[in-house]
Amino acid sequence: MSKLIKATNLKRVYGSGEVETVALKDASLEIEKGEFVSIMGPSGSGKSTLLHILGMLDRQTEGTYEFDGKTIDEYDETQLANLRNESLGFVFQTFNLLPRTTVLENVQLPLIYSDVKESEWSDMAVKAIKAVNLEHRLEHETGQLSGGERQRVAIARALVNDPDVIFADEPTGNLDTKAGIDLMSIITDLNKEGKTIVIVTHEEEIAAYSRRMIKLRDGLIEEDKKISK
Ligand SMILES: Nc1ncnc2c1ncn2[C@@H]1O[C@H](COP(=O)(O)OP(=O)(O)O)[C@@H](O)[C@H]1O
Ligand SMILES: [Mg+2]
Repeated sequence: MSKLIKATNLKRVYGSGEVETVALKDASLEIEKGEFVSIMGPSGSGKSTLLHILGMLDRQTEGTYEFDGKTIDEYDETQLANLRNESLGFVFQTFNLLPRTTVLENVQLPLIYSDVKESEWSDMAVKAIKAVNLEHRLEHETGQLSGGERQRVAIARALVNDPDVIFADEPTGNLDTKAGIDLMSIITDLNKEGKTIVIVTHEEEIAAYSRRMIKLRDGLIEEDKKISK
């Protein structure tokens, strides 16, 4: 395996002066291509902050972040946008789906901002929707779906650009046990196909699907261990 991510002494401070919050104090980690990593820790420990930096949705205040052999500062804004559009997929707990819009249209959304030709959008979206077993819901409005189905739409949308890495922030947070298991088996399959997965969760049962667990506490990495299968 080769190195995908190298983060060294990441610190993230929000605000300044009296309202300053140090969300991440000093985090260093490396992730190889093809890994399946879970980030655990109590609420407020810095999980989302770390995930957002790794996903290039946010920048660290201090420290260095290398992705695919280059520090983030070496990528210009266009290159970063291309990287996000072409290589990374994001899944958030709140889905961010358009409720009055069909599954197909929701999943196509990221392609509108990409270089992909419009004539290919539909095929790519259908392929992603099939990967999460929702092809029977293509023309349904997402507002009519169950929580588990909506979360699968969110996964399909993250997959539509065929990313190398998927970042997910508590994707099972609002799901019942059965829907959570279904979602994790989809994510596990994606990892088996070679995608690198980084998932934030506070549930042990969910972390158990991953192959490595990083535990945060108060903005520091408290534990980083392989999970034996
Ligand atoms: N945009 C922000 N502005 C100010 N403080 C923030 C912001 N985002 C997160 N924080 C604070 O940083 C700390 C870590 O937050 P977060 O990374 O969201 O934790 P977790 O995802 O583990 O619950 C918390 O104290 C939180 O209140
Ligand atoms: Mg969070």
